[in-house]
Amino acid sequence: MKTINKLSSYKELSSTVADIVEEQITKHPLSKLVLPTGSTPLGMYEELVNKKLDWSTVITFNLDAYLMNITHPQSYQSYMKKNLFDRTNIYPNHSHFPFRPFSAFEDKIVGSMGIDLCILGIGTNGHIAFNEPGSSFDSRTRVVHLDEQTIKDNSRFFGSVDDVPTQAITMGLGTIMDSKKIVLMANGVNKLNILNVAMNGEVTEDVPASILQRHDNVEVFYCD
Ligand code: GLP
Repeated sequence: MKTINKLSSYKELSSTVADIVEEQITKHPLSKLVLPTGSTPLGMYEELVNKKLDWSTVITFNLDAYLMNITHPQSYQSYMKKNLFDRTNIYPNHSHFPFRPFSAFEDKIVGSMGIDLCILGIGTNGHIAFNEPGSSFDSRTRVVHLDEQTIKDNSRFFGSVDDVPTQAITMGLGTIMDSKKIVLMANGVNKLNILNVAMNGEVTEDVPASILQRHDNVEVFYCD
């Protein structure tokens, strides 16, 4: 089942998804979550930190990571430490970024009984995690080359386009689709068109997020 919900503000988007995460980990303290990065989830992380939840038994997997020095301020590892991990009681060895060998990372997810809740953003070219247009719907965790559009979009976090890493490790579309529940967040008018194409258009590898139409437990929340 797919539901699409328009919210009135970024604040409401953030608090709505934070409430879903809260409900998940309060009802199921042993939850396994997949977490996103980017500008969209920042408000959600702020809300979650303010809720002062017990993360001590929660396990997290991040969707993706640039291939770069993980201590760089723009690495996704730094982002997660700054916005969530260092501000909650999550155990450092309970939070995982995609690692090599990728089969071991995939096994870790399967071995932890799978993902209960996966939170996603969407790129302006329809990517989810770093699965760029053309990614196979069966793809698993792997190294990818970033799209020109993604590098341009993400250059706002770096000094210039030339400073944006060109490669990343990402969970695959198949890996994401194995999650029991998926929540997609989108913020801003620049996401409306691709969101519409992904949710109501043809299901095609040219629009990676369109695969979500085939998942039976997806909720989409957006604001413009
Ligand atoms: C990056 C991440 C994606 C994220 C996207 C959108 O490319 N790899 O997981 O969904 O950015 O980011 P933003 O929320 O900043 O628009």
